[in-house]
Amino acid sequence: MRTHAQVERPTAASDAGPLAVRSVLDLIGNTPLVEIHRLRDGVAPAVRLFAKLEGFNPGGSVKDRPAKKMIERGIADGLLVPGKTILDSTSGNTGIGLAMVGAALGYAVKLVMPENVSVERKKVIRAFGAEIVFSDPMEGSDGAIRLCRTILAEDPERYFKPDQYNNPANPLAHYEGTGPEIWQQTDGRVTHLVAGIGTSGTIMGTGRFLKEQNPRVQVIAAEPEDAFHGLEGLKHMASSIVPGIYEEHALDLKLGIATDDAYAMVYRIGREEGLIVGQSCGAAWVAALAVARTLTEGTIVVIFPDFGDRYLSTNLWLGWQNLP
Ligand SMILES: Cc1ncc(COP(=O)(O)O)c(C=O)c1O
Repeated sequence: MRTHAQVERPTAASDAGPLAVRSVLDLIGNTPLVEIHRLRDGVAPAVRLFAKLEGFNPGGSVKDRPAKKMIERGIADGLLVPGKTILDSTSGNTGIGLAMVGAALGYAVKLVMPENVSVERKKVIRAFGAEIVFSDPMEGSDGAIRLCRTILAEDPERYFKPDQYNNPANPLAHYEGTGPEIWQQTDGRVTHLVAGIGTSGTIMGTGRFLKEQNPRVQVIAAEPEDAFHGLEGLKHMASSIVPGIYEEHALDLKLGIATDDAYAMVYRIGREEGLIVGQSCGAAWVAALAVARTLTEGTIVVIFPDFGDRYLSTNLWLGWQNLP
């Protein structure tokens, strides 16, 4: 009978690569880029379309990247020390990222969010041991920002606030991670980046890196068409508290997307590409196709921030259910 002691040592070949990672945090980033072949709606054949699947991060979204970077920075700068609680306002995915990173590093986490965020998000955040404080759902993410400021002001010494809307470590996570990955994965061929904007960290950091490699790369943002929308994670800038990290001049184009169009696209992405994604992915894909249709050649990379199983209790699922 074989015992552990008798198991052979790895061969030279497997010694060459890592067999395990040291922490769940080491699994953040290096997400796959998948080419989209079918859902092209008449785009010229020489225009290639790719989706970067950020749902493959261990916390399930693009926001794992800034969560990790902001907490690492807080520790390095001496702002986050043992015994302090990580406090922030979040539309959901950042909360999951912060709760995951906090749990992995042994810090308590308290999150303020509108009461109407999806039940899956609330449950996952609680499963990581984090505390949730609810803000008025009618006030959206801005209401959560304001309530979080009040909680912090009452006991500032108790908390470390990553402040994703104003923390340069948020776009930096994408400048150092998402951007270089896309450059490498497309062999430097990327011509257009398309992403939704919430805090704007993804598009600011990724866009800046890509433009530094090739100033002709076009950076295109998708935002909700108006203030009242069902695109969880995205912000309509004209009617919102504008994030400190947001620089509108860094964008080449910003397209307003209707919630219904984004949802319809999500359903199509599932059926035509085999990817069940979140609503902000649908919005980004609508924007990407609008841009792609104006081109004769190019390589468009679209950020897909998360997967759709996170929204099974929301209106997005009602639409899925009602499909013929
Ligand atoms: C589902 C989803 N899509 C898009 C975004 C926007 O990303 P960013 O905040 O980097 O602009 C977020 C941010 O929370 C999100 O949760």
